[in-house]
Amino acid sequence: MSTTLAPGDRTAREIFAPIASNYDRWSAVLSMGQDPRWRAAMVARLDISPDARVLDVAAGTGLITRLVGQRAHQVVSLDVSAEMLGVAHRRGAAAVLATAERLPFADASFDALTFGYLLRYVPAPLDAMRELARVLQPGGTIGMVEFGRPRGIWRPLWWLFTRFVLPAAGAAAGRGWSKVGRFLGPSIDAFVDRYPDDEALTGLWEAAGLIDIHIARPSLGGGLLMWGRRP
Ligand SMILES: C[S@@+](CC[C@H](N)C(=O)[O-])C[C@H]1O[C@@H](n2cnc3c(N)ncnc32)[C@H](O)[C@@H]1O
Repeated sequence: MSTTLAPGDRTAREIFAPIASNYDRWSAVLSMGQDPRWRAAMVARLDISPDARVLDVAAGTGLITRLVGQRAHQVVSLDVSAEMLGVAHRRGAAAVLATAERLPFADASFDALTFGYLLRYVPAPLDAMRELARVLQPGGTIGMVEFGRPRGIWRPLWWLFTRFVLPAAGAAAGRGWSKVGRFLGPSIDAFVDRYPDDEALTGLWEAAGLIDIHIARPSLGGGLLMWGRRP
């Protein structure tokens, strides 16, 4: 594993260190089987050629990395958590330990970039988005997976799920997951309050210099997928 030293986000490191070994199974369970579908949908719509070089940021255990690897020539996994990235590395990923806020790559190094569940962990999402856009080639494509918050009659049900079911399921999952079960609902709420609609999200990506922005909200709005391109 390449270990380009970076300060990263201590909170994220502390959250993910104890759950790395069983992250894949429990993240699928806690999202009621939805997040594997969201990753697949995001990667399927990514505009990449077979000879593409792709960076997967906040790669974690490499779930998006592996999907991209089926379509691209080379994928690099980058994350701040040595424990999460260690799982990806043991599965064969080219791994770089660094923060999304200061990528150890020259401008325009990649043909495409993916990231999943990153923006809720960075204090300045626009700065992070600008940094992601910086390492993309002109014309390069970028795709994101994130949690959304359902609207209408689904919202109170989602609230009950995130405030009662998730904490209980997290506690049952054991070591480390208890904290995640309590953290996730308020963390998603804070992100959606900050970027409440397509206009706000598109504005964020446009301010980072991206164009051709598309948004999908699968699973009754519980998921949020975005794609864009560097001009
Ligand atoms: C919920 S996991 C998602 C992992 C993977 N993208 C997936 O879809 O399963 C979030 C990941 O973001 C990483 N992360 C959080 N803040 C980061 C930052 N500033 N730079 C790089 N990675 C970060 C965490 O270490 C963690 O592995």
